[in-house]
Amino acid sequence: MNDAAISAVRDTLLSRLDGLDDKSAILKAPELKELFGAIKDQPAEKRGEFGASVNALKVELEQKVAESREVDEQLPPIDVTAPFDVNAPKPSLLPAQNGTIHPLMRELNNVCDIFYRMGFTIVESREIDDEFHMFTALNFPAGHPARDEYDTFVTKQTDKNGEPLVAPAHTSIMQHRILKDNKEQLEQGKPIAAVIPGRVFRNEDLDARHEHTFYQFEGIYVDRGIHAGNLLATFKTFLSEYYQQDVEIKSQPFYFPFTEPSFELMLSCPFCQKRGCHICSNVGWIELLGMGMIHPNVLKQAGVDPEQYTGFAWGCGLERLVMMKYGIEDIRHFESAKLDFLRQFV
Ligand code: DAH
Repeated sequence: MNDAAISAVRDTLLSRLDGLDDKSAILKAPELKELFGAIKDQPAEKRGEFGASVNALKVELEQKVAESREVDEQLPPIDVTAPFDVNAPKPSLLPAQNGTIHPLMRELNNVCDIFYRMGFTIVESREIDDEFHMFTALNFPAGHPARDEYDTFVTKQTDKNGEPLVAPAHTSIMQHRILKDNKEQLEQGKPIAAVIPGRVFRNEDLDARHEHTFYQFEGIYVDRGIHAGNLLATFKTFLSEYYQQDVEIKSQPFYFPFTEPSFELMLSCPFCQKRGCHICSNVGWIELLGMGMIHPNVLKQAGVDPEQYTGFAWGCGLERLVMMKYGIEDIRHFESAKLDFLRQFV
């Protein structure tokens, strides 16, 4: 065989290629195999050159196969004008009477209205934050075991100090900001009085009383001479207004790093008036929320002098409050999107 044989095979194969559906079959053509087989039969001085030519033919064929694939894979252009007909009839909108405000949002508005009437400002919380506001500013030193109790979701993204950003596990993340932003007003003799609603997130095991996503509303009040009696009176007034009845409260000692002293507030069951029912597990009282006098370290961190000012704070779960109002037995109903559940609150 000689170079003329290679070029004859080339012509044959190129013309055959046109007719093939599966172009890659050309690489298995017997003629090509034969050329490769003939390399070893060439006289030694011609073998290198002959081999190179056969190989060049194979590379050329491979390229043609690859090109044909690219053409196949090209998608047809989209005609952007085709599907849009300005004269087509409009889709009919959902009738308004089929939609309602979610019961949690309605109750949250109600809560905020009551506190507004009591002289509090409403400030929204946020849904992404840093470890400083979640823990450090609230007197949880780094490595403090109480940090673990908050089952906080962390993100892969980090803040400027390399600390992970967090999904807030409580609305207390706003305390430092509120104190800092309002301390001048405090110095001019106006108390800080704010209620901060927001959505919070915890890596919880789910059951009838625990959700991974829920709402809290934080309260914060700071002035000269504020004491725990003011806190209890404020919250009792709110609860009586919210449940539209005279409720009883009692406090028991608790621990939070950001309050001293700290309490847990118990509420007489507004569902059975302490007679005992399935809502209060037959004890007549319900543990409702955490509260306390703001720790001096939290005030100091935000530049408020704890020698001159004292204040109280609370963090209350919205769902628990609403569940007791309506006798809802499972917190998971709220996020379930079950219309049967939601329609009861229309
Ligand atoms: N942040 C607390 C929690 O989610 C609740 C809480 C307790 C908030 C005491 C407060 C407080 O402001 O003073 O468990």
